[in-house]
Amino acid sequence: MRVGVLTGGGDCPGLNAVIRAVTKSLIGQNQAEVIGIEDGFLGLAEGRTRPLDWDSVSGLTARGGTVLGTTNRFDPLASEQTAHAVLANARALGLHALVAIGGDGTMTIAHALAQRGLPCVGVPKTIDNDIEGTDRSFGFDTAVATITEALDRVQTTAQSHGRVMIVETMGRNAGWLALEAGVAGSADAILLPEIDFDIDALAARCREREQRERFTVICVAEGAKPRGGEQTVQERIPGRPEPVRLGGVAHTLREQLQSRVATEVRATVLGHVQRGGAPTPFDRVLATLYGNAAAELVRGQQFDQMVTLQRGALGSVPLGTVAGRARRVPSDHPLLRCAQQIGIFFGR
Ligand code: F6P
Repeated sequence: MRVGVLTGGGDCPGLNAVIRAVTKSLIGQNQAEVIGIEDGFLGLAEGRTRPLDWDSVSGLTARGGTVLGTTNRFDPLASEQTAHAVLANARALGLHALVAIGGDGTMTIAHALAQRGLPCVGVPKTIDNDIEGTDRSFGFDTAVATITEALDRVQTTAQSHGRVMIVETMGRNAGWLALEAGVAGSADAILLPEIDFDIDALAARCREREQRERFTVICVAEGAKPRGGEQTVQERIPGRPEPVRLGGVAHTLREQLQSRVATEVRATVLGHVQRGGAPTPFDRVLATLYGNAAAELVRGQQFDQMVTLQRGALGSVPLGTVAGRARRVPSDHPLLRCAQQIGIFFGR
């Protein structure tokens, strides 16, 4: 059996741990030949591969990024020609299966290729935790830990100077990162893409806190927007599968708040720091479980599936139920309700 493995979309802590687990499970249990595909589907279109053996994946659990390389610039579904190149190379390589590790874009591509006859299995990756069908994507826990540490650090400046400190997280159109890290890092206000904020109500909350605690820490998701307003777009990159790059809402918010409060307001945009570095122990274990579960799906010839973690149990769902969707924070989510009940302000 010959199996291809690729990583697609943005890098993420835990990718290497998945590559290692898939490879070792397939070699150990099936004596399979495992082929690493470089730079995601682009490498498959261009026929750039390298063998993955036991030794080449050993020691990868703790390493951030992806040893296979990745890109979010290439969409094989952009034209019949590119889709054909990918499928033709997969056939030429003699792949019996392809394990695609990536976010919603990668899952959408894997599903489309599976529909065209390439047996694919998906593994959900993203710090945003917004992939449909699973409660957790690996990488999220590590990013939450990084943001929490940042919030802890700005807390000391906020307290010492009596300031409003704003910390902006990634997450695209989902607020999971801001919600979980905001709670863990004791933010006083959390602004999510799912709940449009009222700038006057937020300013009023900061002024109230000026009288009592003297400081306010705000954790804002990059996708958050004011009531009746727009998201802050950093850049639009034409021709990319995902052309919109959000970012900078913390600066807009700082300007709007500064004229409404007495204390000084400062903004920090965490950016790619959130995606870098070694995975947490939780993400290492989850990535390893996912990698082995993907290998099990290949062994059982269960294709066009994505491995999942739902209510603490490993499983899988059809890729078709994941493709083209994003999971956002529902208004009745237990952590959101809990945070509201303990007095964290959500912008209204
Ligand atoms: O999806 C992961 C993510 O880090 C988002 O949170 C963020 O909006 C986006 O990718 C940034 O993409 P890029 O690395 O292309 O700037």
